[in-house]
Amino acid sequence: MKLFGLIGCPVHHSLSPLMHNDAFQSLRIDAHYHAFHVEPHLLKEAVQGLKALQCAGFNVTIPHKTAVMAYMDELDETAKQMGAVNTVVNENGKWIGYNTDGEGFVRALCEQMNIDLSGARILLVGAGGAARGIYFTLLKHRVSAVDVCNRTAGKAETFIAKQTSSVYSLEEAEERLGEYDIIINTTSVGMYPNVDAMPISLQTLKKGTIVSDIIYNPLMTKWLQEAKERGARVQNGVGMFVYQGALAFEKWTGIFPDTKRMEKVVIQQLGGKTC
Ligand code: ATR
Repeated sequence: MKLFGLIGCPVHHSLSPLMHNDAFQSLRIDAHYHAFHVEPHLLKEAVQGLKALQCAGFNVTIPHKTAVMAYMDELDETAKQMGAVNTVVNENGKWIGYNTDGEGFVRALCEQMNIDLSGARILLVGAGGAARGIYFTLLKHRVSAVDVCNRTAGKAETFIAKQTSSVYSLEEAEERLGEYDIIINTTSVGMYPNVDAMPISLQTLKKGTIVSDIIYNPLMTKWLQEAKERGARVQNGVGMFVYQGALAFEKWTGIFPDTKRMEKVVIQQLGGKTC
């Protein structure tokens, strides 16, 4: 039996073991996925230990996504660009670090909303690790603009490409929502337990805009609910979670799993319906 896993701190609430073990079972792959709680000061030992145990691959979550890069034998270009690793593959005893978060988000967006991004004008809310991964992946599609707004404007300035992007304060962005086809919240604002918080106000949102939130707990954030009431097409964070996992699964096994099935497992566990 092959061993796969997740390292993070904390990991006890992770839905990844359930989602991956269900996919292994349904595809009759003899493998098991386990969530390992790894304290930051023991990260190096944990990564070395997983290699000693011949672990075939693992995911990496908060707070280790950047720190784990130091213990990789090789890094994929996307992971280097993003400055973070979320998926590790054991290739003949070498740890190769990848990042499937940005691609996971974009695949989920295009497939679930049935859109093509060429010519799209996009606004990202937030400039942390998640925003960075999504930003670089969006630039690979023929979008017309990806602007970024953030509470701390200086953070966005560190990674944006000036020819395709502008940086705005949250207040400036709130005035300009009507200019965008797609608006994406990449911050944790609105996530359980602070479910009443909203990342930006939606007063200038136009009908038909696609509004996506990477949060999946709650399944429908207050912000997404308001966007829907204002006539937007909305998407929650389950899609990104499922597709980043599916892309990792593909790197480990060579098989792209059934994302609809994964989504169902995740939503059932979260106790609700998708939007
Ligand atoms: P992640 O790696 O999950 O993206 P992160 O790097 O800590 O996490 O980034 C969190 C993002 O959420 C940042 O854009 C942060 O804004 P700042 O750069 O100003 O810190 C944003 N964020 C978090 N809490 C916020 C809040 N209460 N209001 C506005 N933005 C917030």
